[in-house]
Amino acid sequence: MSNELNYGEIYAPIYEEYTTVQGMVAEVDETVAFLERYCGGGSALELGIGDGRLAAPLSERGVKVEGIDNSPRMLALLAKRTDLIKAWQGDIARFKSEQRYSMVYCVYCTFTLLVTREAQIECLRSAAEALDDEGVLVIELDVPGLNPLVGGQKTTTSRLVDHENTILNVTVHDPLNQNLVSSLLWFSGTSVRRLPQRTRYVYHQELDTMAECVGLELVERWGDWSQGAFTERSERHISVYRRSSL
Ligand SMILES: C[S@@+](CC[C@H](N)C(=O)[O-])C[C@H]1O[C@@H](n2cnc3c(N)ncnc32)[C@H](O)[C@@H]1O
Repeated sequence: MSNELNYGEIYAPIYEEYTTVQGMVAEVDETVAFLERYCGGGSALELGIGDGRLAAPLSERGVKVEGIDNSPRMLALLAKRTDLIKAWQGDIARFKSEQRYSMVYCVYCTFTLLVTREAQIECLRSAAEALDDEGVLVIELDVPGLNPLVGGQKTTTSRLVDHENTILNVTVHDPLNQNLVSSLLWFSGTSVRRLPQRTRYVYHQELDTMAECVGLELVERWGDWSQGAFTERSERHISVYRRSSL
């Protein structure tokens, strides 16, 4: 099963506005400072590079950034934003790279847009092969919040709601495939936008096991981009892996 919903093609027309409302633009500086520390002025490959929200400022700090995305619309936004970055259309579940990178990174839950276990493992395998000897893989994921989904579906308000914007997330749980099938309903002024999405949630320990299967080992795990501790209250994690055969 591949993801029948192309996230980038759906979200590209509203991506900048959407990520601003969701607080993802506000945390760019902190995220880029974190990533810069891990690639030490070397080279980086972003999996699901999107419109360059992070890749553009990272490249402006002197890191040679490249990227992959399967959405022509997202790649067009990236090209409009910067000409510093080489990016190509491809599937992050199965890519081959001649180049070796100091850091491969996959953030903002992009990894969960790969909706099968096999696709997620293949992505980790391709990423491991693209690392240079000292290279690290950085993955940012939400901690699955499944308790309210025991009844099969839930409706929540999204992370950030202000007077102008209300985002409701209506989610149906497919437990056999660890999939969440969601519709985001974004009320803004007089308009309502419907944004469908399918993801495969992963717990941090499952991610570690999949990473081990492809020769990666966990070196660090943080609860946020400012390197706060990952605890039982954390809503997301940033996990850093390197090749275990070294
Ligand atoms: C949540 S957005 C994140 C974009 C960017 N990394 C950021 O942090 O703003 C996910 C991105 O991954 C891309 N994407 C989703 N599935 C993909 C796949 N299988 N192969 C390549 N790109 C994919 C989407 O087109 C989109 O640009």
